[in-house]
Amino acid sequence: MTEKIVREKSQEEEKRQLGFLKELSDYVETRVAEGHPRPRSYVETFGCQMNARDSEKLRGILSEAGFLETEDEKEADLIIYNTCTVRENADLHVYGRLGRLVGYKKKNPDLLVGVCGCMMQEKQVVDKIRRSYPVVDLVFGTHNLFTFPELLLRTLRGKKRVVEVWDSTDEMVEHLPVRRKYAFKTGINIMYGCNNFCSYCIVPYVRGRERSREPEAILEEVRHFAADGVKEIMLLGQNVNSYGKTLETPMTFAQLLREVCRIDGIERVRFMSSHPKDLTDELIDTIAAEPKICRHYHLPVQSGSDRILKEMNRRYTHAAYMAKVKKIREKIPAISITTDIIVGFPGETEEDFEETLRLVHEAKFDSVFTFIYSKRTGTPAAAMPDQIEDGVVHERFDRLMEAVKEEGETACARFTGQTMDVLVEEVNKRTPDLVTGRISQNLIVHFPGTAADVGKIVPVRLDDCRGFYYFGTRAN
Ligand code: SAH
Ligand code: SF4
Ligand code: F3S
Repeated sequence: MTEKIVREKSQEEEKRQLGFLKELSDYVETRVAEGHPRPRSYVETFGCQMNARDSEKLRGILSEAGFLETEDEKEADLIIYNTCTVRENADLHVYGRLGRLVGYKKKNPDLLVGVCGCMMQEKQVVDKIRRSYPVVDLVFGTHNLFTFPELLLRTLRGKKRVVEVWDSTDEMVEHLPVRRKYAFKTGINIMYGCNNFCSYCIVPYVRGRERSREPEAILEEVRHFAADGVKEIMLLGQNVNSYGKTLETPMTFAQLLREVCRIDGIERVRFMSSHPKDLTDELIDTIAAEPKICRHYHLPVQSGSDRILKEMNRRYTHAAYMAKVKKIREKIPAISITTDIIVGFPGETEEDFEETLRLVHEAKFDSVFTFIYSKRTGTPAAAMPDQIEDGVVHERFDRLMEAVKEEGETACARFTGQTMDVLVEEVNKRTPDLVTGRISQNLIVHFPGTAADVGKIVPVRLDDCRGFYYFGTRAN
């Protein structure tokens, strides 16, 4: 299908869903006029930034339909779990939470429960929910998230549960309402899906093939955000480094970044996530040249062993990764580099693991997300021999944590005494005379302030590093 046909099809679908949204809103308003209390909705996100952004879309639709948002799931009339399946624990957590909802439904028989997100793209999960979780009224997947107005209307009107999950889609329905969690910052999808098929990873199976959005659609959305008070934007994709390759008129991620930086009102630009194999010099030079791009690079390495990297299908070596880290640090000295590491991939030996430890010390990461390998049905790694014993994995995990902590604390403390811009995110929950925000490097800073500071960029002297965050004082 050509992009033009896809676009026309998507616009038609947009209109259809906006029609359902109108019906949904009429339905809610009629009930309210009849004396029913206004329904309250609760949406919880599990998983990554991509899911967080999808939840903002769900919230936007619910708000437009006339639902009130609640932070307390116990008082909700509609509960939606937007699920993640990247590791088994994520799945187990959702099942546990669904179990708890049975009691809620006894207290509020009108309660509706919906589940969506990556878990729902797995057939065995949907089967299990059909069989064992009658508490669930609505199931949909990642590919048909935009049909939420239609599906919710059907659920509200009908007595039967609604289950609709698509295997894939080429549509990009982009103009439904969205409700941002923060007024001053948000994420924006620049691409969907992933084509990398790292051998342990389920994401390509549940999020489908890589598709880039048209640059003009992205820039229009960013301009709209800027006009609406957004200062910080995070460009989202499973591998933003390969943005634009599949467009009719190809463009690089660096080109897109430069365009985004030109938009007035946007003061900070972040992105997540990127694959080392596609990290180009053009991108490094662009980050170095554009002050709006945050000094934070999340560059998942996964392992330091060449043999394991090969088995993981990552398509780079320990040395190639380190060469990129070195280049980034040379050109952008203030940058903070963070990563993801998996411990206990099938066949990982003590020597392989020591290569990972060595890499942590060489790269001097600011912080590391460490994961215990989790077997995901249907991925190539799940069928590999020599899955590692729990005891061994945990012992390695602890040693990795120690190395990560040591390097991270040193890296974090290197800004002590400097004055840096902090984008204030919220009043500190524990100490209400403090506010909490982030510097460009993504480190958290607490300093004395009030609710009036939220959403502002404030220069703060970083006085005291406490491991992975700072206490500071306003610099002017
Ligand atoms: N697209 C992103 C990663 C998304 S998943 C990227 O490549 O950077 C986030 C992280 O979860 C991955 O980087 C990996 O470290 C971890 N992960 C993915 N699958 C996993 C599995 N089966 N077991 C343990 N960790 C996993
Ligand atoms: Fe998963 Fe690899 Fe794609 Fe990241 S790049 S989502 S780890 S397959
Ligand atoms: Fe999880 Fe789906 Fe993100 S599996 S990590 S929520 S893409």
